[in-house]
Amino acid sequence: MEIGKKRVLLGVNVDHCATLRQARYKSDPEQVLAEPNVLEFTLLCERAGADGITMHLREDARHVQAFDIRQVKDALKTRLNLEMACSSEMIDFALELKPHSVCLVPEKREEITTEGGLDLLKNYDRVAAVVEAMEAHGIKTSLFIDPDEAQIKAAAELKAPWIELHTGAFSNAFASGKWSERWAELAQGAQLADGLGLVVNAGHGINYENIKQITQLPHLNELNIGHSIVSQSLFVGVERAVKDMLSSIA
Ligand code: PXP
Repeated sequence: MEIGKKRVLLGVNVDHCATLRQARYKSDPEQVLAEPNVLEFTLLCERAGADGITMHLREDARHVQAFDIRQVKDALKTRLNLEMACSSEMIDFALELKPHSVCLVPEKREEITTEGGLDLLKNYDRVAAVVEAMEAHGIKTSLFIDPDEAQIKAAAELKAPWIELHTGAFSNAFASGKWSERWAELAQGAQLADGLGLVVNAGHGINYENIKQITQLPHLNELNIGHSIVSQSLFVGVERAVKDMLSSIA
């Protein structure tokens, strides 16, 4: 890393540790035998140097549960970023939980993962109300959006402090070897957002292969990475998986 240059921060999304647990214990409401322990996994991520932890409480609670998030919030020394849809239930949950930040995402029941960015033009008034409510309670809002000019301009108008650029299309393209167009969209998006005063985060589909390229994004503040780190931790352990990602970012 260049001297004086700020390191890109790493937020670890621990949802898929809970996916593994839910695969077996979905039907056990007490979860007495539940493993792996999501809180323990999360604290190991923090001990390995993660700058923050992200958890996405989905409407169908298919991975982390509300109790996981409450336990993590109480035990975490760093920051908790709650990913959520703009539903009334989730807004109430966030206002009660008071995480450091929320990241607003679109949510479709049938999707396997968050498929596209939040459409700020279509959901402008709703998002404006959430940004305002969070701000009033000292919670920062991040908007998960595609690297699209109109969406980025809308994020700035909405006065959200942060955006998270959706890197999914780039990550898929990277795997196929033809990624220059997707890269240009991301880089231009980051430039535009920074020029409009937005803090630029990014996430989705980032792995140990594409991370070096991703860190070349201009004005990058933080990356949110989940699936790849959880997968790698099966082979090398959680702390090694987080440390290896951190050293790729440095
Ligand atoms: N950022 C957002 C907004 C997401 O929805 C997700 C997936 O839950 C991630 C980052 C992490 O993506 P991945 O698991 O592919 O690293």
